[in-house]
Amino acid sequence: MLVSYQQLDDLGVIRIDNPPVNALSQGVREGICDAVKLAQGDGTKAIVVVCEGRTFIAGADINEFGKPMQEPTLPQVNAALESLTKPVIAAIHGTALGGGFELALSCHYRCALTSASVGLPEVTLGLLPGAGGTQRLPRLIGVKAALDMMTTGKKINATEALDLGVLDRVFDGDLTRCAMEYARELITEGARPRQIRDLSIPNDSFDKDSFESYRGQLNKRKRGQEAPQKIVSCVEAAMGMPFKEGLAFERSRFMECVKSEQSAALRHIFFAERQAPRVPGIDKSVTPRVVQRIGIIGAGTMGGGIAMSFANAGIPVTLLDSSEEGLEKGIALIGKNYGVSVSKGKLSEHQAMEREALITGAVDYGKLADVDLVIEAVFESMDVKRQVFSRLDEVCKQGAILATNTSYLDVNEIAASTSRPQDVVGLHFFSPANVMRLLEVVKAESTSDEVVATAMALGKRIGKVPVLAGVCYGFIGNRMLRQYAREAQLCMIEGAEPAQIDSVLMNFGMAMGPLSVGDLAGLDIGYKARQALTEKQKGDPRSYCIADALVELGRLGQKAGAGYYKYDPETRARSTDPVVLDVIREQARKYGVQRRALSDEEILNRHLLALINEGFRILDEGIAQRAGDIDVVYVHGYGFPAYRGGPMFYAGQRGLVNVLKEIERLYEDTGEPYWAPATLLKKLVAEDLTLNDWIGVNG
Ligand code: COA
Repeated sequence: MLVSYQQLDDLGVIRIDNPPVNALSQGVREGICDAVKLAQGDGTKAIVVVCEGRTFIAGADINEFGKPMQEPTLPQVNAALESLTKPVIAAIHGTALGGGFELALSCHYRCALTSASVGLPEVTLGLLPGAGGTQRLPRLIGVKAALDMMTTGKKINATEALDLGVLDRVFDGDLTRCAMEYARELITEGARPRQIRDLSIPNDSFDKDSFESYRGQLNKRKRGQEAPQKIVSCVEAAMGMPFKEGLAFERSRFMECVKSEQSAALRHIFFAERQAPRVPGIDKSVTPRVVQRIGIIGAGTMGGGIAMSFANAGIPVTLLDSSEEGLEKGIALIGKNYGVSVSKGKLSEHQAMEREALITGAVDYGKLADVDLVIEAVFESMDVKRQVFSRLDEVCKQGAILATNTSYLDVNEIAASTSRPQDVVGLHFFSPANVMRLLEVVKAESTSDEVVATAMALGKRIGKVPVLAGVCYGFIGNRMLRQYAREAQLCMIEGAEPAQIDSVLMNFGMAMGPLSVGDLAGLDIGYKARQALTEKQKGDPRSYCIADALVELGRLGQKAGAGYYKYDPETRARSTDPVVLDVIREQARKYGVQRRALSDEEILNRHLLALINEGFRILDEGIAQRAGDIDVVYVHGYGFPAYRGGPMFYAGQRGLVNVLKEIERLYEDTGEPYWAPATLLKKLVAEDLTLNDWIGVNG
């Protein structure tokens, strides 16, 4: 039974049991309404609402969004609870999130285990709290704190919630027993039902200007997103309108959000993230290996960031570098990074010390004899990697997993330099590795299922989103990035300035424009990589000649104070540099390119369609398991706006027919083989299928 009601002497207990997270599906809502009717009519003096399983209600059932809303709605459930004429106490464990927290706000008192947390994460799904949250929370904790909670979507722990006045009591021990004791205390005190709806918000607590400036900040922090701004409107309504009208205002904004493309995209990403770690071909009997200690080779920025990712999850790391000097530098950088987290208040000194202490430096490969998994993060050269792997093969124990962090190189070839290719896998982290959530797990030809399963489980354990990729040049993310980066170069030589290209993509919602990313990463990286390639491998010179010319002028990007832009040495503010425009014009002349004005629309289309077309090829070749995996890669590794759902979801929203037409037109105009429409895209359009249909058939 999803919801049960039990009378225990003078107390009524409403118990919700809808695994895994007690989501408020239609059956649960109906069950609560039935229980409320029983509770109202019996002789009990107070009602406790409690949940079975690992958590209090974690929200509305996300699967129901986008389908016709079935009664009773959550606002109806909440109104019924709030209107009970005896005290109703929510007893919280785990996470009371979204609709679950709104339900708790409709109860008259709230108690929780100290390990619990509460939050309104709707904004992360392109929604707003639509069951009274925007009206009740500011009445309870004030406008500013409520706005912060709702627009960030962040959870707060029980202690903070108690301080803010969200919770009335916290305790350790058996939740139901403690909650019942608390309820009896309330009865003894003669406590009355305490409805938040009857509280008022002082008029002077947040004025018109404060709302305006809050909106302005959100425009920056949540650029392009609709839901955060609507949350502000709802809170304004909470201040300016009677409760009932405020609720109606909130509900209509909520319904707008539910129907919005942004929310559909964010819900897609929510489920895609959870699906990504699953590998359908692996038998259920395969269990991940135990991983207790990690080795990392290379104490550079990448190796250090990877080491921090494991230390942050409490996993000890041996960090190895070929020189004492390199090791010292690497360890010092880790210390500095933890110091920054402490100064920003993200970690306590003690936590930072504990984490640093989990990282032990070494210069001797012998120190890796007992690690369970080792990740190589050395210079991107096949010769160097092969040497490292044959050394690891000698020193690491049997059963240890040998992983490479290569971004492009052939993992099959790396595996072949060991006597245990079944234990070799790619673990491609993204810079800064301690921050970025994406982890590409690259399965080579011989990688065993057990090793893949271990890598996926380990990725989740350290808080990453692991995505499986097959072996090809650049795997999923960088293979697509090459197409996108090429269009940035071509748009430049054909007539667009760097600032136009960057602002078009920023306006679309990308975290950064492609040329700013180049300046941040350093233009010398691509330059050096190209030096190792033959002319044929390098491809069309128009797609790299400007970058090469800038490097040869010493313009290596931000670190040199100049790249595609010039940077103020003090503020690091960027500005357009006429020198760069001269370089672009000169290269255009050299390659006989007739420059013209490019529209913003053309720039945007070319960048996005380049990603999408390659995405379809990657899917067709089986390099990615599913379209959603590609979306997760782009959102978590490349700054693609989550509220557009990733390149493949975005293609679906634009309509595959339209996408195909535009790619065909680019192919006709340019004759370039890379614009030949992907076979899978053509097939889906010809058969009138969507990407979802295709996933259904394949997997
Ligand atoms: N509706 C429907 N299903 C939900 C859900 C919801 N609100 N919240 C979680 N689930 C499902 C997940 O899809 C997953 O299903 P699966 O096992 O079939 O993939 C399962 O519950 C467990 O979720 P998961 O995120 O893997 O577990 P966790 O322990 O890491 O995290 C939560 C639990 C509740 C913190 C997390 O799931 C979460 O943040 N949920 C969303 C909460 C939310 O946004 N609520 C507001 C909705 S408007």
